[in-house]
Amino acid sequence: MKKSKIINALYIHIPFCKKRCLYCDFYSQTDLSLMEKYLDALVRDIMSRRTLPVFLKSIYIGGGTPSLLSSDEFNKLFSLLRNSFAINKKCEITVELNPESASERLFETLKKNGVNRISIGFQFLENRLLKKSGRLHSAKRAIDAFRKAKNCAFKNINADIIYGFPSQTAAELNQTLNKTLSLKPAHISAYLYTPPQHRKNLFSAEKHSDEETLKMYRLICRRMSQNGFHHYEISNFALRGKESVHNLSCWNQSDYIGCGAAAVSTINGVRTKNAKLLTYIKYPLKRKKERLTPEKLKLEKKFLAGRTKKGIPTRKKHTPFIKAGWLREKNGRSVFTEEGWFLSSSIIPEL
Ligand SMILES: C[S@@+](CC[C@H](N)C(=O)[O-])C[C@H]1O[C@@H](n2cnc3c(N)ncnc32)[C@H](O)[C@@H]1O
Ligand code: SF4
Repeated sequence: MKKSKIINALYIHIPFCKKRCLYCDFYSQTDLSLMEKYLDALVRDIMSRRTLPVFLKSIYIGGGTPSLLSSDEFNKLFSLLRNSFAINKKCEITVELNPESASERLFETLKKNGVNRISIGFQFLENRLLKKSGRLHSAKRAIDAFRKAKNCAFKNINADIIYGFPSQTAAELNQTLNKTLSLKPAHISAYLYTPPQHRKNLFSAEKHSDEETLKMYRLICRRMSQNGFHHYEISNFALRGKESVHNLSCWNQSDYIGCGAAAVSTINGVRTKNAKLLTYIKYPLKRKKERLTPEKLKLEKKFLAGRTKKGIPTRKKHTPFIKAGWLREKNGRSVFTEEGWFLSSSIIPEL
């Protein structure tokens, strides 16, 4: 009999935002009156996964805006998780927070429930760009949220920032980096601005050239390395030992359960996708199913591992990319250089 693999990772999606930021494509909507029904559906979804072979080393509650949940709702959610799954004592438990909804009470609730990693969406620490991008908070509010998390004894805090945003200058990016680094986060995710699918021409007149964004990427890499951060994936930087277990499990193609509207799970070579919000509320167990072929898994592996510091096994066909300075060979593996990482989505299909 084929044994099922133990599943170590759980993702929970909270698809609500108070207001949609102009640039964002992530799945969420703003009718907060649906939250109660949504949480009922989420309970049914989580309960339906109780019979799976699970020993969690990572739980990630992302969004949307998970910090829109009240303390009571978080208490109920964590109690359900503790009653439903075996959880490793050292399990990394991350909650994503938006600065405007990150209160002291919320941090205390999360701490009490064993949350040990906080991810705060800064995006920029310049009010001009926060306003332009439709964010609901000021730079001060973002910094305050970070300090509140620290005061509540959270040591493992990530800040998300965006670079290459239309009209963002290198000086503004450097300011965001200065202010972010001065807060001493354990992890920084720096994402290259991607025009949203639903509004491809957003600020297109102020778009940066590839040379300008590469310069910004180099600036980020330099500042991170000067401050002791390990660049372990194209967009992710961590102090040693603070690499995200959640991120690593995604990039290592580990099996994971995704609960919530539009959440994806991959278990034993089968990928399922939950329905979008309105259908999910009625039918939380309705899932689209896809059996992953070995070819698809191989291609995904190349895309995921290729973007990490681990790289992929070196092949003869990598030689021109090594000569061009985009890949470096290390112990039989091809790993991207900074410039190569920047071009990785065009290079990986050729590898
Ligand atoms: C799923 S979002 C949720 C974060 C949280 N709701 C917030 O806004 O603070 C995770 C991150 O994706 C990044 N992101 C979203 N849209 C992006 C875009 N168009 N280009 C680059 N990064 C983006 C942002 O840095 C954001 O913090
Ligand atoms: S960036 Fe965050 S707050 Fe803004 S729309 Fe996307 S998920 Fe919502």
